[in-house]
Amino acid sequence: MHHKSLSQYLAEQVLAGAVTPELKQLIERVAGACVAIGALVAKGAVADILGSAGTENVQGEMQKLLDVVSNNLLIEATESSGLLAALVSEEMEEPYQIPEAHPKGPYLLLFDPLDGSSNIDVNISIGTIFSVLECPKGLSKPDTAAFLQPGSKQLAAGFVVYGPSTLMVLTVGRGAVGFTLDRDAGFFVLTQEKVSIPVDTSEFAINASNMRNWEPPVRRYIDECLAGKTGARGRDFNMRWVASMVADVYRTLWRGGIFMYPKDAKNKEGRLRLMYEANPMSFIVEQAGGAATDGCRRILDIQPTGLHQRVGVILGSKNEVEHVSAYHKA
Ligand code: AHG
Ligand code: MN
Ligand code: MN
Repeated sequence: MHHKSLSQYLAEQVLAGAVTPELKQLIERVAGACVAIGALVAKGAVADILGSAGTENVQGEMQKLLDVVSNNLLIEATESSGLLAALVSEEMEEPYQIPEAHPKGPYLLLFDPLDGSSNIDVNISIGTIFSVLECPKGLSKPDTAAFLQPGSKQLAAGFVVYGPSTLMVLTVGRGAVGFTLDRDAGFFVLTQEKVSIPVDTSEFAINASNMRNWEPPVRRYIDECLAGKTGARGRDFNMRWVASMVADVYRTLWRGGIFMYPKDAKNKEGRLRLMYEANPMSFIVEQAGGAATDGCRRILDIQPTGLHQRVGVILGSKNEVEHVSAYHKA
């Protein structure tokens, strides 16, 4: 069967007026970097990319070698493009300014170069998450304030999963679409024209080791799931936790269910990062017909106050997300 390439898909979106030719090029460059990251991931220890980099990132987390290598590949693929005004990464404290030698462009790029770092060394799916915003006009060196736009302003968002297959889910605001890397061709091809989350499902994803710290609405929701058929929900639930957001959200998009990393007594602001984890994933999930909240607010409505701020995340099938939200209002 012949599959449309990512470039062909984006060319159609240009004709339809959904993206500019420049945004098409930017997405292609990011996808190209992800193909390169995926090739390294597939080589594993043979490419000497496993293990620690011996440095700490801005969140005080030990960086893995692959965190650093992926960050560099994404920068190299985009900085000279003339498409970017600046970029922000989980691995860099401040916005990265485009070197003077390169022309600047209209977009701001944000990314988590390597999501699921704890899974790198144990051969479990990991990924990359990215988000594109428009740079406010007239800024030659976009500072932090230029990036602090709510998720509803995203022009495009996507994530890649480096698993048995390398997959990408993308939105430019006209639904969510799925691609698979054709390893022989070396580029992504369209394999799911319309990603659509099943509405009612019975699978939840949460790190249960945090249970003692959960807030009452989350505890109530999970307790009722665990109670199964004879409990308040009247049906049995299943549980999954990969500990790579990309893989957990991918499964949730395909099979339905709910993914939660809520704020709790220990992680008072939540664990996941708003700008380059929660926002792009929420944009995609909404475009696939699902919902995303921090319990009280739609994630895409949150006005960010910091580049690396954290947020509680509850996303997936609409009915389940609404169920948890209702417990937060009770
Ligand atoms: P990162 O590797 O970019 O720091 O993100 C890891 C995140 C996310 O992918 C995942 O859902 C979560 O951390 C897993 O956390 P636990 O180790 O607490 O389960
Ligand atoms: Mn991450
Ligand atoms: Mn990361």
